[in-house]
Amino acid sequence: MGFWKAWFSNPEAITTAKNTFVEEEKINAKANKKNVGNHIIFSTEREIDLYQLEELCDAVGWSRRPLRKVKKAIEHSFLVVSMWQVQNTQKHLIGFARATSDHAFNATIWDVVVHPKFQGKGLGKVLMQYILKQLRSEEISNVTLFADPDVVEFYQSLGFMPDPEGIKGMFWYPH
Ligand SMILES: CC(C)(COP(=O)(O)OP(=O)(O)OC[C@H]1O[C@@H](n2cnc3c(N)ncnc32)[C@H](O)[C@@H]1OP(=O)(O)O)[C@@H](O)C(=O)NCCC(=O)NCCS
Repeated sequence: MGFWKAWFSNPEAITTAKNTFVEEEKINAKANKKNVGNHIIFSTEREIDLYQLEELCDAVGWSRRPLRKVKKAIEHSFLVVSMWQVQNTQKHLIGFARATSDHAFNATIWDVVVHPKFQGKGLGKVLMQYILKQLRSEEISNVTLFADPDVVEFYQSLGFMPDPEGIKGMFWYPH
């Protein structure tokens, strides 16, 4: 609860907007300060070019997944957030995250990625803050994710706890 209180009192928190493309002055200011580019926008639109998404995932070395399954996963996600760099009339996909949910209590965040050229500039944090804000606005109170070992600290810096109250993530795979 402490985390959420801190989150909502955080002046850096991203405001929710109704339009498809959400432009956030603070994000732009942050991005510009770091010379990221002239324009960063967020979107919850699901119509994402799957080839651009594949390129983004390739850029961080993720294994390729069948595009028809990625398409299905996006269609059936509760929330899809993409982050774009806009230059003149062109926009480039530079970040992505999505969440699945029971639409009442729980959500799980998947596929969090920022293009390597844009990493280490605070954008991953803003992307996560944005998705958390959206989930909270839907009254989802329990947010989980599966962290790769080398990004545990990244999520901890956002308030996520590994194994709270001894709870363990458990996996089953077909043999
Ligand atoms: C993990 C990832 C999304 C972070 O995005 P990013 O834009 O580089 O992160 P930020 O610049 O917003 O960093 C926010 C904070 O987390 C820290 N951080 C970022 N990546 C970290 C890492 N791998 N380990 C520890 N701390 C990390 C930053 O130092 C920063 O700390 P600060 O707030 O004290 O300055 C990005 O590195 C990425 O896409 N990695 C490849 C894909 C991946 O592993 N995704 C997660 C799958 S579970």
